[in-house]
Amino acid sequence: MPQALFVKKVDGKPGEVYYPLQLNSVPKPKPGPDELLIQLHAAALNHRDFFIRQHLYPGISFTHPLLADGSGTVVEIGNPTTNSPSSSSSSSYLGKRVILYPASGWSSSPSAPEDPSKFTTLGAAALSPIGTAQDYVAVPASQIELAPPHLSPAEAAALPLVGLTAWRALVTKALDGDVSRAVAGRNILVTGIGGGVALCALQFGVALGCNVFVTSSSASKLSRAVTSLGAKGGVSYRDSDWDKQLAAQLPRDRPYLDAVIDGAGGDIIAKTVRLVRHGGVVVVYGMTVSPRMDWLMSAVMRNIELRGTTMGSRDEFRDMVAFVREHRIRPVVSRVVKGLDNIEGIDGLFEDMRDGKQFGKLVIEISSPPDEEGGAKL
Ligand SMILES: NC(=O)c1ccc[n+]([C@@H]2O[C@H](COP(=O)([O-])OP(=O)(O)OC[C@H]3O[C@@H](n4cnc5c(N)ncnc54)[C@H](OP(=O)(O)O)[C@@H]3O)[C@@H](O)[C@H]2O)c1
Repeated sequence: MPQALFVKKVDGKPGEVYYPLQLNSVPKPKPGPDELLIQLHAAALNHRDFFIRQHLYPGISFTHPLLADGSGTVVEIGNPTTNSPSSSSSSSYLGKRVILYPASGWSSSPSAPEDPSKFTTLGAAALSPIGTAQDYVAVPASQIELAPPHLSPAEAAALPLVGLTAWRALVTKALDGDVSRAVAGRNILVTGIGGGVALCALQFGVALGCNVFVTSSSASKLSRAVTSLGAKGGVSYRDSDWDKQLAAQLPRDRPYLDAVIDGAGGDIIAKTVRLVRHGGVVVVYGMTVSPRMDWLMSAVMRNIELRGTTMGSRDEFRDMVAFVREHRIRPVVSRVVKGLDNIEGIDGLFEDMRDGKQFGKLVIEISSPPDEEGGAKL
């Protein structure tokens, strides 16, 4: 019988509790009209999942499987509704490797979900039954994109949520949607480069020809970002004078930051206000440090804009996946453990995240894909 991974409810206050993982046998889903049945090959963790286990995330469910990110193969097509225009395109997905849009309830609006009360990230979410920590999932055909063929199943599972968040933060928000050559040469700071979103933002920025600078707690992560991924420079955010160190690394002919992409919050404004150009942008997609940050009058006087951002729309997801396919970008996978029933191993991935050990995504291998000519293996 197929299996699915849940968080188990135990007593405890938000922030003090740590919900254990629980593996349950579940019936094999039957795809409904215009739905697809996907056999999942890999699923990836996000920081949100760590927050869910601590009950620090709103709208969680103990009866819907965990995790938003997944890649798999379409193994069954639901009966088409009569004359449904989508039914013929749905059948073309049979046998194809796909990835899931990691949310629901946001179609195309550039500013925010059309109806924010219906928007949710997938995985242990009250508003959606879909989670990727299971053997099979049935989803509407509109939920998926073909997996870029250059990606292994683990890399494909590593992409959706962080890729989409990074795309919206960098392209939609920091670059105002411009992916032309005009953005080449802009200076972008991406903080906390060990994180999944940060690494994707670095990779997308480099592919666009931007000068990407990074921060990290770890010298080895800084070094990998520069030597393997094309960052122009980097500093340790543990050093109290990291802003001065960064200023010294900026190009002489462009000695300022055009934009900051930040997932930590804290004192990011105080640290960067003198580095960001007048009229520049600070884009914040998370606040790992604490759920509040300061905003300074000196930032107002420089006409700096603070822009909050979340994941993104279904349309942004399509654009991001096309960009990854075109530029053959490979999401960075930090560690893979094998098997949904490997609770100890999966708990170890959560520990990596808690301890900030990861450089990239933490992935669970669920099943092997059927053989594909030229297809990548896990
Ligand atoms: N709003 C949304 O839709 C959305 C979507 C995705 C993520 N998020 C949020 O964004 C944050 C990051 O997500 P993620 O999945 O990329 O997390 P992740 O993979 O768990 O990475 C977190 C990273 O944060 C960095 N960090 C910790 N303290 C820092 C500090 N003081 N200054 C700078 N960086 C610091 C660390 O970087 P080093 O290891 O390099 O030190 C760490 O690797 C989380 O808070 C998450 O909830 C929000």
